[in-house]
Amino acid sequence: MSTAAPETTRDDPYFQKLFADRIGGVNYGKDTEIYKFEKIKRAKRKALADHPERKLLDFGIGENDSMADASIRKVMNEEVNKPENRGYADNGVIEYKEAAARFMQRHFGVTLDPATQITHAIGSKPAYAMLPACFINPGDVTMMTVPGYPVAGTHTRYYGGEVFRLPLLAENGFLPDFDSVPDDIYRRTKMLVLNYPNSPTGKTATPEFYEKVVALAKEKQFVVVQDAAHILLTFDGEPLSFLQTPGALDVGVEVHSMSKGYDMIGWRMGFVCGHERIVSAFADVKDNSDSGQFIATQKAAAAGLDDDSIPDRINTKYRRRLEKLVATLNQCGFDCEMPGGTYFLYAKSPSGTKSGESFAKAEDATRHLIEQFGIVTVPWDDAGSFLRFSVTYVADTEADEDALMQETKKRLGDAGLVW
Ligand SMILES: Cc1ncc(COP(=O)(O)O)c(C=O)c1O
Repeated sequence: MSTAAPETTRDDPYFQKLFADRIGGVNYGKDTEIYKFEKIKRAKRKALADHPERKLLDFGIGENDSMADASIRKVMNEEVNKPENRGYADNGVIEYKEAAARFMQRHFGVTLDPATQITHAIGSKPAYAMLPACFINPGDVTMMTVPGYPVAGTHTRYYGGEVFRLPLLAENGFLPDFDSVPDDIYRRTKMLVLNYPNSPTGKTATPEFYEKVVALAKEKQFVVVQDAAHILLTFDGEPLSFLQTPGALDVGVEVHSMSKGYDMIGWRMGFVCGHERIVSAFADVKDNSDSGQFIATQKAAAAGLDDDSIPDRINTKYRRRLEKLVATLNQCGFDCEMPGGTYFLYAKSPSGTKSGESFAKAEDATRHLIEQFGIVTVPWDDAGSFLRFSVTYVADTEADEDALMQETKKRLGDAGLVW
């Protein structure tokens, strides 16, 4: 929030002083801070300029590397030509909600009424932008895990609310420590946002953890929003939905995405499901924000939800790549394990190199690895220092994956990292 004295100059448009404080007020557009992903982009540009012959090994991409399955694209092809799909979708067509209900039943044994307990979203991101509108008045609190997906927090602040950060620390198994939350925060908390399988730590939740969350939500009286974007990329057992927990349907919603588990990132489809009253509040806010996803897209996504072989194939691919990456990194001095879920490997950041380089933060290690060795990762310095390796790199065959791992091993060996 900017309450600084107006700093308009003669070159500014007359409306410079009209920007709202929530986006920087009169200083909007003048921020000189360089954000993490821009720093990575700059380091990549420098690496390519300094070593044009060297290919970047890009573990920094957080998006699936494949197109949606041919069967989904075929349904899209058909539905796009049907006149009945042309109009506003409003809060969504029943075909998608019914497919989502079948999905929740088949995968998790959770029974939901498609008419009242499920609403689609144009990807899950907008759902995190809208859910705070349902609950947050000025002064209210959203508790969120850090590191984490920030959108619900940004919108909580837009509504004059506060974000209470729950660090996900290695020593707590990347689960939040609810005992450390002050009473004053609990009194003001209206929403708890969780995300399991967790991005970027790769941790999965347990039934016992979710039981504790349900009990706490009832005791302290807040709603739970569980982000299930990576749920079909679960590797340590069966995927677990928050809504499987006894009592979960009394306290919250789970938000699902078609992006990661179905290779449908750009299609923008997801759904919010759970307590009927919360789903309906979300649908009301949504109805005042957008007019629904294109109906043909919803029907193609419904076909995807009904075909479990699609997420199975995607899960198999990313599991295989993660296993190869874990083995490779461990041969180079890292100490990492197969993540429980997501396509990310969250590895403790090195503190320096044998040749005397020292890294105060993961951000320094990232820059060094990009510029000197052409290896791209994403640094996380919010709760300890970690590097996030994503296995969404482009490789057409398993032999290509192996060649990429060989090259990674060679370059990391040359880097001589120490911890
Ligand atoms: C943890 C998490 N939640 C939600 C999202 C949003 O996904 P989408 O809007 O594509 O459904 C992402 C995307 O990167 C994510 O990583």
